[in-house]
Amino acid sequence: MTERLVFPEGFRWGTATAAHQVEGSPGDTEWWAWEQLPGKVRDGTRAHPACDWWAGRYVEDFDLARSMGQNALRLSVDWARIEPREGEWDDQALARYREILSALRQRGIEPMVTLSHFVHPQWLMAKGGWTNEAVVRCFERFATKVVETCGDLVDLWCTINEPNVYAVYSYLLGYWPPEKQDLLSAFRVMRHQLVAHAFAYRSIHRLQPRARVGLAQHLRVFDAFKPNSALDRWAAQVQDRLFNETMLSPPVDGVLRFPLGGGKVAELADSQDWIGLNYYSRDMVSFDIAQPGLLFGRRFSMPGSDFSIEGWGEIYPDGLYRLLKRLQRYDKPIYITETGVPDNDDSKRPRFLFTHLAAAHRALSDGVPLKGLYFWSLIDNFEWKEGFSARFGLIGLDLQTRQRALKRSGQLYGEISRAGAITADMLERYALEVKATLFPS
Ligand code: FCB
Repeated sequence: MTERLVFPEGFRWGTATAAHQVEGSPGDTEWWAWEQLPGKVRDGTRAHPACDWWAGRYVEDFDLARSMGQNALRLSVDWARIEPREGEWDDQALARYREILSALRQRGIEPMVTLSHFVHPQWLMAKGGWTNEAVVRCFERFATKVVETCGDLVDLWCTINEPNVYAVYSYLLGYWPPEKQDLLSAFRVMRHQLVAHAFAYRSIHRLQPRARVGLAQHLRVFDAFKPNSALDRWAAQVQDRLFNETMLSPPVDGVLRFPLGGGKVAELADSQDWIGLNYYSRDMVSFDIAQPGLLFGRRFSMPGSDFSIEGWGEIYPDGLYRLLKRLQRYDKPIYITETGVPDNDDSKRPRFLFTHLAAAHRALSDGVPLKGLYFWSLIDNFEWKEGFSARFGLIGLDLQTRQRALKRSGQLYGEISRAGAITADMLERYALEVKATLFPS
C-alpha cells in the first residue's frame, strides 16, 4: 500500500454536537416554546427526548466515539439550564455538565465547549435577546460562570456558534424563533454577538491563561453564476462581503465596519486564538434587479450538481479547500468546527467524507495550519426546523427505541481517525469511484 493521504500527528479527529439538538429535557428556551406551536418543525418532532444525553445516554455515544478512534468532541451547554432565571445559577445542571465533560476526558476525548449555540433562556429573549446591548454583559457573566465551574476539564472554548446564520435565520429571514424579518435587527444581532465574543474572550483568558478561545464561523462560497458577467461577479462579492467578511475581520482588527454600526472595540482586536470554520456548501449568485431586499443577488444551488436531500445545498468539496486557503492569511490555527451532510440513508456520506477530507489534506499540504476536524455530527439529532427529517449522524438513532447503530460512514470515519490517514484500500472498500480522483494512476 503506497497510496495514502496522511494527516499530521496530533490532528484532532472529532465530531460536533449542540446541547439542544442532542440533550433532550430542554430548559426554558425560545426554541422549546416555538417547537410546541403547530407546523413549526417539518416532521412534528421536538427536541425532547432527542438523543437523551441529559438522562445519561451520552455514555453510549461517547463509548462509540472512542471505539471510532476519536480524540475530540465539540458540544455546547444550555444557557437556560445553567441560569434558569437571570443571575441564578443551577448548581445541579453545572454538576451534570461536569459529569459529561469528565466522561469525555476518561475516554481520552478532548472537549471543545461552545457557550452559545442558537438557543437562549426565555428571560433573555424577553429583554430582546441579542438585539439588546445588555446581552453583552449577560453573556460575559454566563461565560465566566461556566469557565469557573468547568475550567479544569476544558481549555478549548468556542464562544458563539455561527453568529451570521443565527442573525440571518432568526432576524432577517424569519425562519427560526423569534421569526423577525428586519435587516437592522439582524445587523444589531451580529454586532452584539461579536462584541460579546470579545468580552467573553478577555474574561476567559483572565480566569484561565492557558485557554484557547475562538468562534465557529459559518462561511459559504459565493460564485458568480455567469463568471463572464460583471454584474453577477459584483452580486456574488456583495453576498460574500455581507455574510462572510463582515464576521471575519472584526475579531482580527476590532473594527465594526458598515453595516455593523461603525466604531472600534479594543477588546475585539486580536480576540481569537484559533479560527473555527463551519462549511457546508456554496451558492451561485445572479444579479437580479427585482431583488433589492436581497441586495440584487439571487442565490441558488448550481443546477445539475451533486445533492444529498431535496432543498439542501450542493455537495462541493472544493469549497472547503478554497475557504481554508482564504483563512490562511490570518495566521492562526484553524479547526473545521463543522462539516457534514444531511443524508438519510447514508448513501452519500462515505464519499462526502473522502472528498472533504481530501480537500482538507490538500490545504494542509499548502501550509494551511489546520489542526483538526469536528464532523457534524456524531449522532442523528434534532436538526432545528427540519426536526429529525434531515439526518446528519455517523451514528444512526432509532426514534422509537432510541437505539444507536454505527452507520457505514461512521465505520469509515473510525478507520480514517484510527489510521490518521486515508488509504487507497479504504477507498476501494467504501467508495471505489472516488479512488481515481484522489489517487490518479
Ligand atoms: C450548522 C449548525 C448545526 C447544525 C448543522 C447542520 O449550521 O451549527 O447546529 O444544524 O448546521
